Amino acid sequence: MQNFVFHNPTKILFGRDTVAKIGPETAALGQKALLVYGRDSLKKSGIYKQICDSLSTAGVSVVEHSGVQSNPMLEHVRAGISKAREHDIDIIVAAGGGSVIDSAKAIAAGSVVAHDVWKFFNGKKSIKAALPIVTVLTLAAAGSEMNSGMVITNEKTRQKFGFGHRLLHPVTSILDPEVTFTVPPDYTAYGAIDAVAHVLEFYMTSRDTDTPVQCRLMEGLIQNSMEACERCLLDPQDYGGRANLMWTATLALNGLTGAGLGRVGFPMHMIEHSLSALYNVPHGAGLSVIIPGWLTWFCQQEEARVAQLGENIFPVEGYQRLTTSAMAERTITIFRNWFSKIESPVSLGELEIPPSDIPGIAQNALTLARFWRLNEYSQQTIEEILHLCK
Ligand code: NZQ
Ligand code: ZN
Repeated sequence: MQNFVFHNPTKILFGRDTVAKIGPETAALGQKALLVYGRDSLKKSGIYKQICDSLSTAGVSVVEHSGVQSNPMLEHVRAGISKAREHDIDIIVAAGGGSVIDSAKAIAAGSVVAHDVWKFFNGKKSIKAALPIVTVLTLAAAGSEMNSGMVITNEKTRQKFGFGHRLLHPVTSILDPEVTFTVPPDYTAYGAIDAVAHVLEFYMTSRDTDTPVQCRLMEGLIQNSMEACERCLLDPQDYGGRANLMWTATLALNGLTGAGLGRVGFPMHMIEHSLSALYNVPHGAGLSVIIPGWLTWFCQQEEARVAQLGENIFPVEGYQRLTTSAMAERTITIFRNWFSKIESPVSLGELEIPPSDIPGIAQNALTLARFWRLNEYSQQTIEEILHLCK
């Protein structure tokens, strides 16, 4: 176990009928809110009215900034920053999934500086202040509701960059599983895959082999994500399934899994962000294409780690003894088959991305690799991994 500091300042209100608490939670922090949300799901589900009623009862005035799209765009963030400045906003309320919450974080940081917000993303400026953020989570996936990260696409440079700062932690996040009853099957699956990927990134890239407490925590989160996802696909209104998936996805990227692991990386995300930036692929769908290919490439150096995961979460029936290689390969096959079973793509071909695009995708990912100090990933290595995802 390596030294670590674990400090997560986000307060979580979890469970039924918690949405009505958004008003008092916001009023405790500010009086003039920018309400950031997506397109039509919030109004269609009735959550929009619940949030607005609660904010107005609490005496909070509201300016709206709707229209956040999946894989959120920089221009839309800039428009939100202008609105926040124009209306002298003192708190940001985000009601949505990772795209909405990430946009809200970028607006919260961008509206208190004179320079362009993208300078935070390309490392030219660092964050020194941000407006407070409160969230109502509507989709179990990204974990943004309880972490310091945000990911935005610069549509002009076609770069999708992410980074974290402690000031971007939401002050309070409201997680009501009933709010996710309306999430369609595809985004239910993509969200579960994202949670699995968040855990796999740390599980596979940690160099410390003596962290059983962390490994068992991560193994359990992967099992929960897969199991709860299947419950929700079977019955979208299965409260227990939605509750377990929601809390699993939040725990999968709130700092807890990485504690004690030492330096870890996010290589599968580094590559996936290029698929989202260049082809607007839903994040979880891009990950289900990248994960099997990256694991296969990773087995060339560390197949024991992949085998260990498979042995612990996909136990072999009977007493067959598999070799490490066979166990590692079986683990990857189980993940690939599960992604297909929940109707998420498992090849670039299924995304209709031709192999001739691979050099361009690798080049786009390389910038983020440098930014995230994933120096072992060259253009050639990323192309090699992408060829395993064809
Ligand atoms: O736009 P609306 O109509 O609201 O529809 C949304 C959106 O189209 C819909 N949706 C959300 N809640 C719903 C619902 N539909 C019905 N009922 C509900 N309750 O779902 C669609 C996808 O929403 P989105 O927010 O894009 O999905 P997700 O939560 O997976 O977020 C993906 C974004 O998170 C980023 C990804 O890069 C991507 O941009 N990530 C953020 C991270 C972070 N901040 O730590 C880490 C992650 O690895 C990830 O990179
Ligand atoms: Zn992710």
